[in-house]
Amino acid sequence: MSILELDVIKNYVRACNDGWLQNWHERNGGNLTYLMSEEEVALCRPYFKETPGEWVKMDVQADNLKNAFFLSTGSGKYFRNVILAPQDNICILEINDAGDSWRIVWGLEMGGRPTSEFPSHFLNHSVRLKATNGKNRVIYHAHPGNLIAMTYILPLTSRAFSRALWQSATECPVVFPQGVGVVEWMVPGGRAIALATSELMKEFPAAVWAHHGLFVSGQDLDEAFGLMHTIENAARIFMLVTSSGMPIMQTITDDAIRAIAKDFGLTVREDFLN
Ligand code: 13P
Ligand code: ZN
Repeated sequence: MSILELDVIKNYVRACNDGWLQNWHERNGGNLTYLMSEEEVALCRPYFKETPGEWVKMDVQADNLKNAFFLSTGSGKYFRNVILAPQDNICILEINDAGDSWRIVWGLEMGGRPTSEFPSHFLNHSVRLKATNGKNRVIYHAHPGNLIAMTYILPLTSRAFSRALWQSATECPVVFPQGVGVVEWMVPGGRAIALATSELMKEFPAAVWAHHGLFVSGQDLDEAFGLMHTIENAARIFMLVTSSGMPIMQTITDDAIRAIAKDFGLTVREDFLN
């Protein structure tokens, strides 16, 4: 038996490869973190390193993630390689008693660190855990091309992006009735973008990074992957329509979105509708 045969690892590796197959992860683009359950940690523990890595302090902290364990992709590692050698491209991280440092307890066997976006993932996990009464487990960042293209032609507001996406595919208001947040262009990889993103994640299950990509959350890998997929599919339709050269003859109206919300028993953000 190898750790790679455990469902928790197999499902995570599958999600990484699915993202690669969607063309969302050029080079080392994107990163995925998964907050492990106690049972999953217990199953993986026999395979942990005899000597864990050094504690590395972050410049972010979260009380509700003290002593947590995460699966994380490695910084600079390519999603397309995860399936070939998970042990060299992903890792399990332990968070310390203070909720402000991590150490590697499994994986990245050829060396390396967790994703450079770990501060954003960490704070997003913290706020989504609160927003979902402890249910959120996944934070996923990718570079889907059509959604990035939208950040060049729409105002960088949560209202503009939520409306454009809702109007681009009928399932959108059903899948994300709260809408999506938008972070203006910022330097990636640090505390400032982590704080800005996690502030939006208090309200939204997903946050667009202008000219960069998308962060999504989910209670499991299917939900997070499905949200990324739904948003990028709507963005693809939006870009097909806007680049078709044809005038727009009709769209999904605000009242149609209200009707969807009523029939599906959802609360769509009224302040995003006209
Ligand atoms: P990492 O390789 O450090 O995960 O960074 C990729 C990325 O997408 C940065 O935003
Ligand atoms: Zn990125």
